[in-house]
This record gives sequence, structure tokens and C-alpha cells, in this order.
Amino acid sequence: MLRSSLQMARRAMSSAAAELPIKKVAVTGAAGSIGYALLMRISSGQMFGPNQPVELQLIETEVGMKPLKGVTMEIMDGAFPLVRKVTQTSDPNVGFGDADVAVLVGGKPRGPGMERSDLMSANAAIFAEQGKALNNSAKRDVSVLVVANPANTNALVASAHASDIDPSRFKAMTRLDHNRAIAQVAGKTGAMAGDVKKVVIWGNHSATQYPDLSNALVEGKPALDVINDIKWIREEFIPRVQKRGAEIIGASGRSSASSAASAAIDHMRDLHLGSGDSWQSMAIHSDGSYGIDTGIWFSVPCLCRGDGVYERIVDIPAPDEFSAAMIDATRKELLEERDTVRHLLPGGDVQAVPKTRKKRARKAAA
Ligand code: NAD
Ligand code: LMR
Repeated sequence: MLRSSLQMARRAMSSAAAELPIKKVAVTGAAGSIGYALLMRISSGQMFGPNQPVELQLIETEVGMKPLKGVTMEIMDGAFPLVRKVTQTSDPNVGFGDADVAVLVGGKPRGPGMERSDLMSANAAIFAEQGKALNNSAKRDVSVLVVANPANTNALVASAHASDIDPSRFKAMTRLDHNRAIAQVAGKTGAMAGDVKKVVIWGNHSATQYPDLSNALVEGKPALDVINDIKWIREEFIPRVQKRGAEIIGASGRSSASSAASAAIDHMRDLHLGSGDSWQSMAIHSDGSYGIDTGIWFSVPCLCRGDGVYERIVDIPAPDEFSAAMIDATRKELLEERDTVRHLLPGGDVQAVPKTRKKRARKAAA
């Protein structure tokens, strides 16, 4: 009796899975450290849920094709029911073909003593090519997450070259910083990570980011009251979250990988399955909200509504003087980064506003 009801439940689950259209998920840098940690988790349903079949479109450099073969063999050996097909290519135009989702991890990581912005010359050019390839071959509503550093500015470059894809479809990952901030507050207060809410990462995924606890709650109470230690917040918490990537590189000799993959899972899961009233930090295309210049990718608090839809949380108290100065510092750094990659933007366009948006603006003005 028990066995037959279990069988019926399994059959119901597999027929539900069959009803969902397959999601085509492209991942660049698929044979790298983050790619390796990420792919098993996408395959097991942790990114898009247990009923969502996926087709993995794995993209690597020519040199990366051999290790990618090994990664693909391991995915196969996982016998994941949700994985319907795995393709491997070094051609982004092929790899992004009809993609519903693109996770852009491919690029160099930094080593000890480097800042993430030191990766600009090596990595930003990759994103001009990948933006063009996304524009050529991905679905128009492809959901893009940029992980490779410098993530915010890479997202700007990619989007600038994808004039037929709305810039709101591109995000740069600051979820790792968001998770790090939660973990530090949980460690300080003894609360569980799940009971720390409404932290915000503002700005750049760099050492100027502002991890902000002004609105945060610990077990439902204002975090500032629970912590009651402004010196710790300013002198330990903020610099630790800002420099956690470097701290990990200092300890392990290499860039964070499984926590980064985990954050990419969290980001995409929330964005596509929804996260209720839970605040999430994502670097998104600035529309001028919060007084931030339009056209840069700036991390802000968002609510994720599912199916890739998000809302900025704008109904929050104005920042105090300290917070305003912190937000301004990271804003200035992103403007400088944008200027550094101006040569990579179509027509040296400092606003990096893709053509479709310009066309829409002209139409609206006419
Ligand atoms: P890795 O060196 O282990 O792997 C990178 C992979 O990308 C390599 O296999 C390489 O062959 C591939 N690659 C390089 N150029 C490519 C291209 N044009 N197309 C496709 N593949 C390409 O590095 P990693 O540890 O996996 O880190 C990847 C990136 O993610 C780095 O830039 C790192 O700084 C960044 N990162 C970001 C965050 C974040 O929170 N946003 C966190 C951790 C790491
Ligand atoms: C991180 O935050 O761990 C990554 O961006 C890697 C790095 O270079 O810090």
C-alpha cells in the first residue's frame, strides 16, 4: 500500500517535470573552480527547483575544453533526472544558443595582493564578446548573472553590446557579499543565519561596497540595537565583509569558489522561484533610483517575485550621513570603472545605454 502510494507520488512528480518546458542554461568558465561547484547543484535542481528540467550549455576556452570533458563526464555520472542534455563548446554564439539563462563565470580570478579591478584589462574584453554573442543567439528575455570580476563593470560591458536585450535582464552578483554580511551578524549575535534579515549590500562587488545594517533585523529586532556596538560595525564588520574575498585568498591561496557557487544558486533560485518578502542584494542596471547615476550596475536591495522579475526596495528611510558617504564612495568607484572601459563600449558610449533603450526614449520623447 505504502509502496504503491510512493510510486504514484513519484509518477506524479515526474509527469509534473515533463510538463515544464526545458530551461536552457548556459554557463561560461564551466571547467573552472566555481563552475565545478555550480554545475552539480544546477543539475540536482537546487537552482531552478526539483521539477525543472535543464539543458546545460557549457562554454569554455579552447584550452578549457579538455577539463570540461571531465566535468561533463561527472555530470553524466550523477545520473540527474533533471538534466536532459549537456553540450560543450568554445564558441559563445553556439553556447548561448536559445539560452533562457546565462551564468557568466568565465574569466581570470585574482591572486594574492591584487584588487578585483586589476582584472579589468584581462576580463572586461571577454564581456564585450559575450554581450555580442548573447545578443546574437540567446533568447530575448535571457536572464544573465555575471559572476566573473570585476562583476559590476563586466555586466555593464556585456549589456552595452546586447542592444536587443533589456539591461534589466543583466545582474552582477553581490549575493556572496550579502551572505557574508548575514554570517558575520549571526556570528556576532549568536542568532541563526536565517534569522538575520534585511541586510543590504550597496554598490560595487569590491572593497568599496557598503554592507549596511541600518534596516537589518535580528530575530525581528533592529540589528543596530541587538549588536549595540557601532565601533564593531564600522571597524570590524564593514571592512571584513568588504575584504572577505582577499581574506579567503590569503588563507587558501585561491579565490572563493564553493561559497561563490552557493551564492549564484541563491541569487538565481530567488530570482526565478521568488523569495517572498525577503530582501536580497543584486547589482542591477541603475535607473536613477536612490540618486545613483543611470547606466551603471549598482547593488541595491530587491524583492524577487519569481520568473526573473524583481523590484527595487525604494520605500526605505533616507541614509544617514555615514551611509550616504559610504554609498557615494562606491558610486564614484563604479563611475571610474566605467570610464576605464569606455573604449570597450559601443561608440565609447559613457552612458552605455543600449540602442533599444535609446530608440524607446526617442519614441517616448517624440
Ligand atoms: P578559475 O580560473 O578556476 O575558472 C575560470 C574558468 O573560466 C577557467 O576554466 C577558464 O578557462 C574559463 N574562461 C576564461 N575565459 C573564458 C572565456 N572567455 N569563455 C569561457 N570560459 C573562460 O576561476 P574561478 O575561481 O572559477 O573564478 C571565476 C571568476 O569569478 C573570477 O573572475 C573570479 O574573480 C570571480 N568570482 C566572483 C565572485 C563574486 O562574488 N562575484 C566570487 C568568486 C569569484
Ligand atoms: C570574492 O569575493 O571572494 C571573489 O570576488 C573573489 C575575489 O577576488 O575576492
